[in-house]
Amino acid sequence: MVNYKDIGLVNSKKLFAAAVKGGFAIPAYNFNNLEQLQAIVLGCVESDSPVILQVSKGAREYANQTLLRYMAEGAVAMAREMGSKIPIVLHLDHGNSFELCKSCIETGFSSVMLDGSHLSFDENIALTKKVVEYAHDHDVTVEGELGVLAGIEDEVSAEHSSYTKPEEVEEFVGRTGVDSLAISIGTSHGAYKFKLKPGESVPPLRFDILTEVEKRIPGFAIVLHGASSVMPKYVEIINAYGGKLDGAVGIPEEQLRKAAASAVCKINIDSDGRLAVTAKIREVLTKNPGEFDPRKYLGPARDMLKELIIHKNQNVLGSAGHGKNLG
Ligand code: G3H
Ligand code: 13P
Ligand code: ZN
Repeated sequence: MVNYKDIGLVNSKKLFAAAVKGGFAIPAYNFNNLEQLQAIVLGCVESDSPVILQVSKGAREYANQTLLRYMAEGAVAMAREMGSKIPIVLHLDHGNSFELCKSCIETGFSSVMLDGSHLSFDENIALTKKVVEYAHDHDVTVEGELGVLAGIEDEVSAEHSSYTKPEEVEEFVGRTGVDSLAISIGTSHGAYKFKLKPGESVPPLRFDILTEVEKRIPGFAIVLHGASSVMPKYVEIINAYGGKLDGAVGIPEEQLRKAAASAVCKINIDSDGRLAVTAKIREVLTKNPGEFDPRKYLGPARDMLKELIIHKNQNVLGSAGHGKNLG
């Protein structure tokens, strides 16, 4: 059993309380490899932002669970060596079983998500509650989900979204004991969040649902998944250097900023990071076809991702500058 406190990690409780009170959101960045982790840590240290390092089931299988635990410990050590106090959370994204959540807790995770959004209301409550009981015994925080996002959730697919029903949140939170709740208000996973006809613009998020949810569980930590903006500058670079991402579109940053100023206190970003990395790798390899040293293209890709993270923390989530007070 690896206790997350022994490797310098924290759970998300204090961070969410500060974020709700301060009108900002804690960034949750997904990672699978060394360069992504370096970029996240460097970007959050430089912008002095608390951070949630987020690992999906697939990422855990890709990276190896033992290596991941040491990578997280290394991330904390690296931040401290740089003189930074930023709090660092290691979080399981879209956990789909009690066993997976338990295994993550046993290998150093300080926070887990049980995504029971595809289950019936009562089944979702029962499974989430089981995870909460085990997690809280280990001082690990738990995120639950109500409502289904469109697109592909890690091994949880949904053709169409079904928005969170505000009338269900109070009972869900009360009966499960979760620490935070992911809701569906129009975001979705991946790089194709909306199918727009020519001239059409992105429909606004359902802030009316968010307001209703806030009214029923005031001050409770709300989470937004599928919150990448699919930044056009990266899509353009990818398409200019041999890629093909036609019609990729995401959530406008102003809407995310507005959400972060409300009860939304955790914003999940994966696709924007993937796009930044892919854009730079495509550009470097196209301009230098003879290059075969991975450091020569992964290094610039890492720098591009770091730049993106600083931008998100400063201009979208508002988490920049809050690291030292929470550390
Ligand atoms: O919400 C899902 C995340 O973007 C993780 O994606 O399952 O491909 O690692 P993944
Ligand atoms: P994006 O695909 O919009 O980056 O969402 C990521 C996410 O929600 C991870 O859980
Ligand atoms: Zn998600």
